[in-house]
Amino acid sequence: MTNEQYYSLIQSYEDARKILISRLEILDHSLYGNHTESGPVHTIQSRIKSKDSIEEKLKRSGKTNSIANARDYLLDIAGIRIICYFIDDIYNLASALKRQNDLIIIKERDYIACPKPNGYRSLHIVAGIPVYCLDTMEYFPVEVQLRTMSMDFWASMEHRICYKKNPHGREQLSRDFKIYADILEEIERQLEGYSDVKKKIE
Ligand code: GTP
Ligand code: MG
Repeated sequence: MTNEQYYSLIQSYEDARKILISRLEILDHSLYGNHTESGPVHTIQSRIKSKDSIEEKLKRSGKTNSIANARDYLLDIAGIRIICYFIDDIYNLASALKRQNDLIIIKERDYIACPKPNGYRSLHIVAGIPVYCLDTMEYFPVEVQLRTMSMDFWASMEHRICYKKNPHGREQLSRDFKIYADILEEIERQLEGYSDVKKKIE
C-alpha cells in the first residue's frame, strides 16, 4: 500500500469518525435534558488506524495488503473511545445511538455483561455511518468502545504493561491484573451508589 493509497483509503473513515463524534456530542448535552449539569460523557478519544497497523493486521489475518482487503476485513480503521461516568451512562448512550435509525449496527460485544477472562470490560459497537458524497451514500464502519473511567484506567495500564511481555512473565501479570479488575469493579460499584443517572431514558 503506497502512502497515496493509504490517504485515499482513510478519507471516508475520517469523515465517518467526525460525523459520529458530532452525534455523540449532541447526545451528551441532550440525553439528560439540555439544562442538566452533566451528561453521560467524561471524555471522547478517537483515532484513525495508522498505515503500519493496517498492514500488520491484514498480515496477521492472512490477507494480502490491499485497499480492497482493508475495506472488506477491517472494522476498526476508525475508532472512537467514549469514557463515561457510570455504567448506566454507557447503556443510555448506546441505546440512544442505536435509536438513530439511519445508521446500522454491524457488530456488538458486551464485555461488561461478559468480561474477558483477563478482566477486560467495555461495550464495543461497530456502527456503519452513512457518508454522503455528491450522488452516492456509503456506510463506513466506526468501532466504538464505551467504558467507565475505571475500565479505561485498567485497560490503558493493561495495554501499557502487558503488551509485548513474554508469555512467561505474562501469566503472573494477568493473574495480578484480574485482581486489579475485581478491585476496580468493586470501587465502581460503591461509586454507583452516588449515581443520579436514571436507569431508563424514554
Ligand atoms: P482486534 O483484532 O484486537 O481488533 O480484536 P477483535 O476484532 O477480536 O475485537 P475485540 O473486541 O477483542 O477487541 C477490539 C479492541 O478492544 C482492541 O483493539 C483493544 O482496543 C480493546 N481490547 C480488547 N481486549 C482487550 C484487552 O484484553 N486489553 C486491553 N487493554 N484492550 C482490549
Ligand atoms: Mg482493534
